Amino acid sequence: MSETDKVFSGPIPEFYERYLVPLIFDPYARDIAARVAVARPQRVLEIAAGTGIVTRALVSQLPVTTQIVATDLNPPMLEHAKTLIGQDDKIEWKTADAQNLPFEDESFDAVVCQFGVMFFSDKARAFKEARRVLKSSGQYYFSVWDKIANNEFAELVTQALEEMFPNDPPRFLARTPHGHNDIDILRSGLKGAGFTSISADAVDARSRAPSPWEPALAYVQGTPLRNEVEARGPARLEEATTRASQAIAERFGTAEVDVRIRAYVVTAARSDRDADYSSVG
Ligand SMILES: C[S@@+](CC[C@H](N)C(=O)[O-])C[C@H]1O[C@@H](n2cnc3c(N)ncnc32)[C@H](O)[C@@H]1O
Repeated sequence: MSETDKVFSGPIPEFYERYLVPLIFDPYARDIAARVAVARPQRVLEIAAGTGIVTRALVSQLPVTTQIVATDLNPPMLEHAKTLIGQDDKIEWKTADAQNLPFEDESFDAVVCQFGVMFFSDKARAFKEARRVLKSSGQYYFSVWDKIANNEFAELVTQALEEMFPNDPPRFLARTPHGHNDIDILRSGLKGAGFTSISADAVDARSRAPSPWEPALAYVQGTPLRNEVEARGPARLEEATTRASQAIAERFGTAEVDVRIRAYVVTAARSDRDADYSSVG
């Protein structure tokens, strides 16, 4: 992973929230919050909360008595999340690295991390940290994107930028968000950290936008792909966005666009009771 892959700052949080969240994150946020709500946890830790789409879904789906601690490595993402949610006594916000969580052992009933695990350079350590802070009956819930071929906007954007920068293509989307979906590797990392009862569901959703321009803006300017393009010349960001938009238009037309997206939602138990080991999808 490149160092800039985990930098969500500058204009990225705003573009992320405005264009990317409705395009790809919203349906998965409602799905993962519903999974967490089934267990009616009293205290929930959210890791890599970003601009708070899952935090908002948790607030609306969990009992009013549930406390949520929402964390992220990048303060600008959390600032955005805080502003959107406003004052809420149920939520505590904290800057935190998933690989070094600033919390006591066994202090949460659930740990949730939507589309953050791909950014952790030491996943074994991040999994151990998640398990350490869970109570013995606690559950870890996280999601990762499937391969880029099953997430066509991301693939078209990556191909467009390969053509624009043939000698040194920006590969953020393939390398990081879509580069960590081998369920066997994730399972063995979780097992190594002591998790049991591991399951992984393939979950499909639709990604829709009024025109090809919105997904182009979302991926090129609302993710760390922006950092990679700007490193090749700040003036090239608009051209990169236009090229990405044209690639999407060539494939899907210039009007409303609508593609299938796919992710895996993984759940794992801290307890060594029920030590079965299952996987779907
Ligand atoms: C794709 S975003 C997901 C955000 C949010 N969960 C969502 O679904 O919209 C990835 C998030 O991971 C965060 N992140 C990257 N590395 C991290 C780390 N080591 N520890 C905690 N968060 C991290 C980034 O700041 C970013 O907000």
